[in-house]
Amino acid sequence: MLGPPGAGKGTQAEVFAREFGLPKISTGDILREEMQSGSELGRAVKAVMNRGELVSDQLIIGIVRERLARPDAASGFVLDGFPRTVGQAEALDGLMEARDPLIVVEMQVADEEIVRRVKSRRVCSVCGASVSAFGSKPLAVKRCQHCGGALVTRADDTETVVRERLKVYWRETRPMIEYYRDRPTFRRLNGAQAPEAVRSELEAAIFAVAGRLQLVVPPRRPA
Ligand code: AP5
Repeated sequence: MLGPPGAGKGTQAEVFAREFGLPKISTGDILREEMQSGSELGRAVKAVMNRGELVSDQLIIGIVRERLARPDAASGFVLDGFPRTVGQAEALDGLMEARDPLIVVEMQVADEEIVRRVKSRRVCSVCGASVSAFGSKPLAVKRCQHCGGALVTRADDTETVVRERLKVYWRETRPMIEYYRDRPTFRRLNGAQAPEAVRSELEAAIFAVAGRLQLVVPPRRPA
């Protein structure tokens, strides 16, 4: 799942992974968990993430390599936030040898809509769940609906940092989209619609590619 910060990758990855019983592997979530636990890795990446820059390819590729080797990822997974550079995309191709091909979906959203979305996002300080104020209404809830934890703003969700993340996206991640663009497994979709519409377009894109390549998609789980 590719796209700029705040494009809705995490939102859609979560729903798709749950619906089809696949693990959702989010490099941002993994790094934030490390930060929260106070681990050496978490301490090492904190300043970089809070500035809106990318952590090193070497570090993130190591994390993904280890995660994809776990048994729950053997028959498929949803990747959110990785790859983000040409180097990461090349490494991922290496990790995918002897597996089914990647289906690559790019979600497109204009920069100003991204700034609006990210500024209005709050996350739970305990379980990390994300809450958003859609439209122009301020957020009505103050506590997480899953665990009751206090809602806070992510350190990298300020306007200044999100604009820096967008610059990093255009400079480092956008060229990587070119790396995938001509593959028959690449699809582009409009991420600037209501979440349910994005979800339908995403599913249709994935099923179209899977059908064409005769890939086995796990059965949909009951809601
Ligand atoms: P990461 O956590 O991956 O952040 P990101 O890519 O900037 O993505 P976001 O989580 O901000 O947005 P999203 O696209 O998932 O959108 P979401 O669904 O949350 O990475 C954080 C940092 O970690 C990076 O800056 C970097 O430092 C480091 N990092 C991570 N991976 C790395 C890598 N591979 N290499 C190097 N460094 C790495 O939605 C955003 C908001 O919009 C939410 O509030 C949501 O509710 C709302 N929303 C979602 N869909 C819609 C919709 N259709 N309409 C209106 N609102 C919507």
